[in-house]
Parts: sequence; C-alpha cells; structure tokens
Amino acid sequence: MINVGLLGCGTVGSGVVKMLAENRDIILQRVGQEVVIKKILELDRSKVYALGLGDEVIAASMDEILSEDIDVVIELIGGIEPAKTYILQALRHGKGVVSANKDLIASHGREIFDTAAEHGVDFYFEASVGGGIPIVFPLKQSLAGNRIKEVIGILNGTTNYILTKMSREGHPYEEVLREAQALGYAEADPTSDVEGFDAARKIAILASIAFNSRVTFEEVYVEGITRITPLDIKYGRELGYDIKLLAIAKEEEDGILVRVHPAFIPHNHPLAAVGGVYNAVFVRGDAVDDLMFYGRGAGQMPTASAVVGDMMEIVRNIERNDTGRISCTCYGEKRVIPTSSQRAKFYIRMLAKDRPGVLAGIAGVMGNHEVSLATVLQKDTNNGFAHLVFITHEVKESNLRDALTVLNGMSIVGAVENVIRLEGVEDYGA
Ligand code: NDP
Ligand code: HSE
Repeated sequence: MINVGLLGCGTVGSGVVKMLAENRDIILQRVGQEVVIKKILELDRSKVYALGLGDEVIAASMDEILSEDIDVVIELIGGIEPAKTYILQALRHGKGVVSANKDLIASHGREIFDTAAEHGVDFYFEASVGGGIPIVFPLKQSLAGNRIKEVIGILNGTTNYILTKMSREGHPYEEVLREAQALGYAEADPTSDVEGFDAARKIAILASIAFNSRVTFEEVYVEGITRITPLDIKYGRELGYDIKLLAIAKEEEDGILVRVHPAFIPHNHPLAAVGGVYNAVFVRGDAVDDLMFYGRGAGQMPTASAVVGDMMEIVRNIERNDTGRISCTCYGEKRVIPTSSQRAKFYIRMLAKDRPGVLAGIAGVMGNHEVSLATVLQKDTNNGFAHLVFITHEVKESNLRDALTVLNGMSIVGAVENVIRLEGVEDYGA
C-alpha cells in the first residue's frame, strides 16, 4: 500500500481525493498497489469533511506528513510559503513530491530540483503548466531526442476567453472582463491573468525544460491584454490574423528568447483555432516537426488528472526502487536574449493627419530606423485624422521603438495607438 500526504484540500486537492476514490480500481490495476490518502493538511477542515472524510485523516501539522508511513506528498496549497518549506522538508525526508505550483517552480525551481536530486527522490509537476494537458512529461521524455526549436503556448484560459469573446462580439475589453468575472471565468482580481504573469510563469517552466537551461519568471518579458481594442481585432482580422495572448520560447544562436504578449497569428495557424477557456501548446522539434497539445488548462478534475498521473509514476518508481530517475534537465547555462535586441514583425496603428505627404513622412522615419514596411493601409478617417495601419517586415525591436518615439513627436502624427507583434507568419501566413 502507498500512503499519500495531501497538502491543501481546496479546488484541486478535493479533485485529487475524488479521483482517487472514483478511479480506485484502475489505479490499483495500473500501479499494482492500493493508493490511500493517509493524511491531509488543510487550514479549513470543513473542506475535508465535505468530501465525506473524518478527523482521522486530518494532520495537525506538517510533522505528521513527514512521518515514516507517508510515501508521497502532494502539494496543492499554492503560493511560495509555506509551500516551499513543506516541499523541501518532504524531499529531505526521502518522499516523492507532486506539485501544481507554477508560482513556486517558476521562481524557485532550482532549489527544489537540487534538493530532489540530492536525496534521490522524484519531484513531478505536470499540472503546473496547462492543467490537464500533458506537456512536461512529453517534453522531458517522448520528445527527448529532438532539438526543440520553439514552444508557443496559449497558457491562460481567462485571457483566451476574453480575447475570443472580444473577437466574436466586438465588445471592448472592460465589458468582456466584467462578463467573465460574473460567469466565474475571471478572478475578482484578474491582474495575474490579464497582465500575462500567469502565462509567464508557465512559459518559464516550459522554456527551462525545452532548452535544458533554467529560465525564471523574472526573466520573461511580459505584456498583458489590457490595451487590445475591438478596432485592432477588426483591422487584424481584415489582414488575415487572429489575436491571442501567446507565451513564446525559442532557442536562437545567441540564447533563449522568452516572452508573453498579445500577438496576431494567421487564421490557419493551429493556435488560431483554440478558443474560449481552452489552452494549447504548439511545439516544433527538428525530427518530429510541428505538434500541438490541446485541452483544459485549468479546473478541478483536469488539473487533478495531471496530479494523479504524476503520483502514479512516482509510485511505479518507488516499487522498482528507481526514484530520482528523471531529475532536473537544466544542465545548460544559456543566456536569455534581451527584448530590445529581439526581432519580430509588427502591426502598428496610428492616427495621422489625412493630407498629402503624411504617409511619405512616416515611411521616411521608419526607413531611417531600418524599419521596412510590408503593408500600409489607410482606414477610417475622422476630423481630418486617419487611422493608418502598418505591418512591418521582421525588424529589430529597439529600431522600431526608436522610430515610434520620433513619430510620436511629429505634428503630422496624432498618436501611435497600438503596437502588436505578429507570430507564425512565415509558416502559416497566406
Ligand atoms: P485553492 O485555494 O482552492 O486551494 C488551496 C487550499 O490550501 C485551500 O483550501 C487553503 O485553505 C489551503 N491552504 C492554504 N495555506 C495552507 C497551509 N498553510 N496549510 C494547509 N492548507 C493550506 O487552490 P487551488 O486548488 O485552485 O490551487 C492549488 C494549486 O494548484 C496552486 O498552486 C495553483 O496554482 C495550482 N493550479 C490550480 C489550477 C486550478 O484550476 N485551480 C490549475 C493549475 C494549477 P484556505 O482556503 O482555508 O486558505
Ligand atoms: N488562472 C489560470 C487561467 C488558471 O486563467 O488559465 C490557473 O493556472
């Protein structure tokens, strides 16, 4: 029999308890052992009682979880402390640990993985990225023979829901956010989701695995979705693009590029079809070519599915006396490339005076900064000002920013109203 200690019996923790009860028979058949939740450490006991469990499973303190008869610890408290201390204690006591804690892993992964390796035990974290979507295990094992070129994810359900709704209905961001909050799809404080921090934590974890070098949350360039307007979505669509909040990690000759921002992608890019709260991860490997993993990136049972899968793998390793087999894969020390020296294609929307010579003046400034234009469109005109939309060829980001600073100071330009990167145009553009 394998005894599990559960830390945190909230949304996901309760899902794990339910799954272990409902699928007890197949779990027993697949790992060859009965898996029992022996102790639960939870601040709010009523959550444990609500699952039909009694006081006998409630742990008075972490010391009970660290006792000898617990084999695997599942951490579902979230946040940095006390989760970090508890995980380190469990690993030092020789226990395998499963966690869904992206906040912790994206900022303090190194210490946790080093501790697991030192003690020859497993630390698995499939649920920390993409909820129920298997992506950590495939990158570490199934795709291990590939040189991964890029990983691009839609890794946040809240923002994907908002952008999908804005695109379908043409409503502004604030209105759709309020609807999403009323329906329970967005948190009362949506900052972490809408500002891109949640996706940044997840792509830091995936970049570290894909490129075998530790990337932390703090190193990820982040832009959220709050500046996206229905007008940009409309103009983008006319040009053949859909808007998505992308979490992008690529390996270049001089290091790793890792960033989260809204991006226009061609309508026929596989990620363009990912709507609503769904998540997806697009992976390009040198041998396997393009792959996409799609599913529910959050929610009680999808996330519990990933946690229980990890737990079962640890049980198999314990049975074969083979724990710590797949430990940290960050053996390299690659640099993260600063955003200013990265290159991308851009969509730019500005208000400019609608009179002869204005376009030539703007194009001249762009040219002086080595910003080459691929498409120029004049859209709606109002009170002598026109909306101009530009699509650039691939340009160095710092050159574009310098050009836009100059343009913003010119009397012919009302304002540069939005700048949005393009992604996937070479491979999936019309
Ligand atoms: P919840 O807030 O629902 O659950 C956390 C539980 O831990 C709460 O019941 C909380 O009790 C309890 N808790 C907090 N501090 C302590 C402590 N010191 N000792 C014991 N219990 C404690 O969070 P979720 O279940 O949603 O998330 C858990 C983890 O899973 C997080 O790391 C999250 O990022 C991750 N995750 C969640 C997903 C989801 O869909 N929910 C998706 C993917 C990952 P109380 O409420 O009384 O404070
Ligand atoms: N808040 C996240 C989302 C789910 O909206 O996708 C938890 O990672």
